[in-house]
Amino acid sequence: MTEAQFRTPKGTHDILPEDNRYMTYIKKAVRHRARQAGYQRIDTPLFERRDIFERGIGEHTDIVEKELFLVSSPHAEDGEYAFALRPEFTAGICRSYIEHSMDQLPQPVEFYSIGPLFRHDRPQKGRYRQFHQCNLEVIGLKDPSIDAQLIQVVSKIFGDLQILDRLTLQINNIGMAENRQAYIAALREYFIGKERNLPDSDRQRLETNPLRLLDSKEEDTQILLKSAPTLDQFLSDESKEYHQTVLEYLDTLGIPYEQNPGLVRGLDYYTQTVFEFWDQHTGSQNAVGGGGRYDGLIELLGGKPTPGIGFAGGMERIIWHMKEADIPAPHKDQVDVFVAQLGPEAKKQCLLLISQLRDRGVHTLGALGEASLKSQMRHADKFGAKFALLMGQMEVKEGTIILRDMAAGKQQHVSFDEAIPTVIKLLGEKNLDTYSIKDALGYVDADT
Ligand code: HAM
Repeated sequence: MTEAQFRTPKGTHDILPEDNRYMTYIKKAVRHRARQAGYQRIDTPLFERRDIFERGIGEHTDIVEKELFLVSSPHAEDGEYAFALRPEFTAGICRSYIEHSMDQLPQPVEFYSIGPLFRHDRPQKGRYRQFHQCNLEVIGLKDPSIDAQLIQVVSKIFGDLQILDRLTLQINNIGMAENRQAYIAALREYFIGKERNLPDSDRQRLETNPLRLLDSKEEDTQILLKSAPTLDQFLSDESKEYHQTVLEYLDTLGIPYEQNPGLVRGLDYYTQTVFEFWDQHTGSQNAVGGGGRYDGLIELLGGKPTPGIGFAGGMERIIWHMKEADIPAPHKDQVDVFVAQLGPEAKKQCLLLISQLRDRGVHTLGALGEASLKSQMRHADKFGAKFALLMGQMEVKEGTIILRDMAAGKQQHVSFDEAIPTVIKLLGEKNLDTYSIKDALGYVDADT
């Protein structure tokens, strides 16, 4: 009897090379736009004390109530299940801001992060148990222009990835915590006597998190909501004015948006501005990203009152959109040269040649085994190599090597010493994959 084949756990997936090319490309786009706007990279642990998430995101949110991956260890000195895998970045980043007294830095501090998150969600299309986000946070200063600028950075990233025109920006202001408390009380009042007409899941929500009724997908709930009080009736003048100014700034920056009074988001820490980028066709389902202001979160986690705003985009959903729109992920994974050899002496010389080609920035494969030249050439073809270099006993004696243009099917003898310069000339210097520490500092010595 054969054992069942091992597979990835439900809701997780391997990121195979093709998708990794997309991942790398998206990371580059995020890094580029983030740096332009002064964001610096931060990485927090993959797991944190679970109460950071419970307090931050909210005990009665789906993420905390149903989706936290708790971490248990027989050696846990902090108690069993004291930790959880991070379901999002924001709470951990705010913990870090407090822990490292970042209020002492010039404000606002701006962070970007890219990495895996974990939610024990019911897996379905676009919804995984391990997924990836690109995340931006601006902490320590509050102004409508900060909200508009953050949204602009996100729009630029989606623009660079060529998916912006597939998305719509949905925006709302959900007021301060006290506005929301008053509204929640009114909503509960309104539903008294109407609970029977709500589907089970929404009846539960009415108990624990009534705001979530607003973005319920249930038709019965939406019908009842038509005559319910609305959140904007409970907003303070300050919140309304704040919202109007954010919209004005978005107009100034030429960023189109749709005002959406039903947009509340699924995490409790939000205050005032909330926004999401929706697929133009499927709407709220599988939003590509979302974010908002969280002016009470840092205080909730034990810090001084500190405003913040942020955004996270789902990498898998971004990749899905890029593929749907036929946007390729440019990459440098091609094989430039395949070196084929026959005989022990040729193999030795080719080992050195391969190493030198690689050092010059030529992507090179070869000397993989003892196969015949013919089967090595088939390999070169399968790897999609642009050129092949062939060396048999004859060439060793002559001090030459055969250079074959794989696409053209033409070949020539070149002297062994000329092999590298000839290949480099054919490939073009600018296509070589070289890197030096100077590249990392490129702009510093741009004038040298
Ligand atoms: P979120 O709306 O929970 O917000 O997640 C942001 C994005 O992550 C979603 O729009 C979606 O693209 C992706 N995402 C979420 N869950 C999954 C999943 N199970 N599978 C695949 N993709 C998923 C946040 O996480 C907030 N922390 C955003 C934020 C940052 N707010 C302020 N700062």
